[in-house]
Amino acid sequence: MMKIDILSLFPEMFEGFTHTSIIKRAIEKGVVDIKIHNFREFAHDRHQSVDDTPYGGGQGMVLMCQPLLDCLKTVVTKESLVILMSPQGATFSQKMAVDLSKEKHLVIICGHYEGFDERIRDYVDLEVSIGDYVLTGGELSSMVITDAVTRLLHGAIRDESHEDDSFSNGLLEYPQYTHPAVYDGQEVPAVLLSGHHENIRKWRLKESLRRTLVRRPDLLENREFTSEERAFLKEIKAEMKK
Ligand code: ADE
Repeated sequence: MMKIDILSLFPEMFEGFTHTSIIKRAIEKGVVDIKIHNFREFAHDRHQSVDDTPYGGGQGMVLMCQPLLDCLKTVVTKESLVILMSPQGATFSQKMAVDLSKEKHLVIICGHYEGFDERIRDYVDLEVSIGDYVLTGGELSSMVITDAVTRLLHGAIRDESHEDDSFSNGLLEYPQYTHPAVYDGQEVPAVLLSGHHENIRKWRLKESLRRTLVRRPDLLENREFTSEERAFLKEIKAEMKK
């Protein structure tokens, strides 16, 4: 079982997340153990302070080392990977999710307010951002990572469900349809109703390539192609010129 310990000043933000849908079920099935720790409980002063004014002056407050790192000490073991959520980190990706899903124990630190005392970074293995924008805290981003990792764990969802994920083969997922066969005049592509598995596989691969070429050409730049894929790309480019 994967263990995920999350250090946060706002444990209530995780209530809906850990009590809903696939994450809730993964916890109940023992696929993952998610615990939230409020490091304010490790503050010693009367006001339970966790932050203070920055040395050198300036706006805002900075998270202090002591409460956060005392809390960290109670959860870290030799098997832990300690992650700091911050907009300054490496950008999260499906590849990173797959790598993290192989770990035994993740400890995720969520900051809030202006920033962390720089010395906290000495206790961190990996600093992760979920994208080039600034959130009010690391809570949402820690949930993004926990969600993406948990769904990859054995037993969380059917293992085959990952195989067609967008990005898992370096391409965006192909278009999907369900009943009815005609909705408001829009028909489901005939090949999907044919029951011909090989033709369906080819159609899906080609549409994955088409979608990726149109929406995310950057994903194709460093990808190696099979001869089948190369042939489909040629067809797609010819079709786009028409
Ligand atoms: N905390 C604030 N903004 C963030 C971001 N973009 N990624 C991760 N943690 C954050």
